[in-house]
Amino acid sequence: MTDYQDRPPLDPHPLSDYVAWAGRRNRDPILEVLKTKLPQDAGEVLELASGSGMHINYFAPHFPHLTFQPSDRSGETFEHIRRLRDEQGNANVLDPIVLDLTQPDTWPEKGGYRAMFCINIFQVAPVSIADGMMACAARLLTDDGFLLVYGPFMVDGRFTTPSNEEFHRMLRSAGVEEWGLKDVADLRRAAETHGLTLAEQIDMPANNFSLIFRRT
Ligand SMILES: C[S@@+](CC[C@H](N)C(=O)[O-])C[C@H]1O[C@@H](n2cnc3c(N)ncnc32)[C@H](O)[C@@H]1O
Repeated sequence: MTDYQDRPPLDPHPLSDYVAWAGRRNRDPILEVLKTKLPQDAGEVLELASGSGMHINYFAPHFPHLTFQPSDRSGETFEHIRRLRDEQGNANVLDPIVLDLTQPDTWPEKGGYRAMFCINIFQVAPVSIADGMMACAARLLTDDGFLLVYGPFMVDGRFTTPSNEEFHRMLRSAGVEEWGLKDVADLRRAAETHGLTLAEQIDMPANNFSLIFRRT
């Protein structure tokens, strides 16, 4: 666990020091994946569970031809997202919208997103959220669009590293029913229910994955 020595105490609140620390570690590796996947021409990209907005505001300047739509289940962090956007002069980041993955009536009417991405939600959310996420992606993505889900996951019922198992134990010891690592297989099954397929499983630093889902 030497690489976790500077880790603040576990706190899943989107504006916590812990979530900011995780975001600073993962944003460059995720950006490198997005550079190889996002379209070269104009279009709109939707972030699910944007939290503080640190990722979308970090990525947006690298893709000036794309428009980025932040979202989250409540408006609690929207002022923070807008402040980052304005401080950084990100003209291609839209005002955040409420989008709750468990509430289809909050999903945007208009689809046509070239890509969607969601970072670090599953370890602090019930696995059932996968169903809403895949239904939402199936409804909103263009035919050639993709959903990128980033985070730590189990694979076929196993922890891929001792540090992931330790992270899972730490989450479980907090006593919150839904906290803990979920299995890639659960997301794959949910995707298949909604006409999507797990197209790529990319190893990322610190024992995380980028999972890319596309239409079957
Ligand atoms: C640990 S934070 C991660 C935030 C951000 N993606 C990041 O990596 O910094 C988890 C986020 O998931 C959001 N979330 C939880 N349940 C959700 C749901 N049902 N629909 C949409 N967002 C949800 C929370 O509001 C929170 O912003």
